[in-house]
Amino acid sequence: MIKNIVILGVQWGDEGKGKIVDLFSKTSDYVVRYQGGNNAGHTLLVNKKKIVLHLIPSCVLYKKTTAILGNGVVVSLIDLIKEINYLKEKNIFIKDRVILSHSITLIFEYHIFLDKAREESNLKSSIGTTRKGIGPAYEDKIARRAIRINDLNNVHFFSKMLKKNVQYYNFQLKNIYKRNIVSYKKIYNESLNSFLELKHMIQDVGLFLNKKIKKGFKIVFEGAQGSLLDIDHGTYPYVSSSNSTIGGVITGTGVGIKNIEYILGVSKLYSTRVGNGPFPTEVFGNIHNHLYKIGKEFGSTTGRIRRTGWLDLVLLKRMIQINSLSGICFTKLDVLDYLQTIKVCIKYINKDSKKELKIFPSNEIEWKNVIPVYKSFKGWNQSTKSIVLFKKLPKNVIKFINFIQNFIKISIDLISTGPERSEIIILNNFLKKFI
Ligand code: GDP
Ligand code: IMO
Ligand code: MG
Repeated sequence: MIKNIVILGVQWGDEGKGKIVDLFSKTSDYVVRYQGGNNAGHTLLVNKKKIVLHLIPSCVLYKKTTAILGNGVVVSLIDLIKEINYLKEKNIFIKDRVILSHSITLIFEYHIFLDKAREESNLKSSIGTTRKGIGPAYEDKIARRAIRINDLNNVHFFSKMLKKNVQYYNFQLKNIYKRNIVSYKKIYNESLNSFLELKHMIQDVGLFLNKKIKKGFKIVFEGAQGSLLDIDHGTYPYVSSSNSTIGGVITGTGVGIKNIEYILGVSKLYSTRVGNGPFPTEVFGNIHNHLYKIGKEFGSTTGRIRRTGWLDLVLLKRMIQINSLSGICFTKLDVLDYLQTIKVCIKYINKDSKKELKIFPSNEIEWKNVIPVYKSFKGWNQSTKSIVLFKKLPKNVIKFINFIQNFIKISIDLISTGPERSEIIILNNFLKKFI
């Protein structure tokens, strides 16, 4: 029986990872976030009770499961405390079952100010970030000036680094962006106060997880964002700043590649993206209105209406390859109910030559030359909501799913038919044991 599983998004985020991680958390000992920060928004819906998590892994509803943030995550201590308190208000007491890696990179107010300043000063070509300071925090990490959580253990060291960084950021905020600057004193005091509240959660997560793996504990690795927002393999530069593809699990936790047993990709049966950037199968008008209204496609972090489009099998196949997926979970089948026609993109052709593209576009200009070619399917004109058995699905859905299965050539393990935990078709008996 498998003891660990990676659950990651294979589109531009918001695929429904939270719901699927929650399902797998029931029998798990640890659920680990390995990249991203509170730019993520993972929604759980259980018996009509909704919980949106930005940083803490989606296992909070199971009292015996411990939530872990690996070294690859970027964390605002203030926002982490807010999330712990948000859960407390919902009678979920998480404080004693969270573990934080000792080498987490911290997000400070100056990262957030700079993220906002850049986005607002360059609206035409902005990325459309969540303005949570994610990009600047990862920049600090790569530039080797980041302040990491354990640095706060030594107040003199912390104070020296913070002064240097505040000076560096205030110079840019004031002189380049003509913005308000941040206060060193305020950040210093707030950070140390927050640190004291969280200090008991800090551990060497790599060491901890490797020991637990040896002992056979069950672990879920929870991806944030989606593979197309990956800094290396996504639609650069319209991406987030971390590796949301499979490599992020290894670098973001300290667990070696041989210890990963199953990689489950999550994808909607259509597409969405928040923020700017290439989206070949994007739709507008009536189809967009149907998808965003029925699918409730509003960003869980920023509240923005998500852009919508058809499922892109060219992109999906590429992301299956990049992540070496073991299987896939499709979500939001019910959102396609009652559409007359449903399309999927099966190839790209070049706008000018009209020839099929064999090489994946690698920059903004190349993406503009892509024309998607679709295969159309007849709708099913009935509800699939809450169906839990594959054989109960309408014939036209089965035709649609079988076509996708033949095209992507990996196992379809789960199909989600509604936002509630119980609204799921489990096709893979092997995974049933994990759930
Ligand atoms: P995540 O970031 O990947 O965890 O996804 P989000 O939580 O940001 O967005 C997914 C949204 O779709 C949430 O509101 C979920 O409750 C909802 N959802 C998940 N699966 C399904 C499904 O099968 N059908 C419907 N209608 N909603 C779903
Ligand atoms: P989950 O985990 C959807 C998008 C932003 C923007 C780009 C860069 O809920 O799937 P950033 O603030 O990260 O620098 O923004 O990435 N983005 C997401 N889109 N779901 C997410 O997370 C996202 N996290 C970041 O909208 O386009
Ligand atoms: Mg989300």
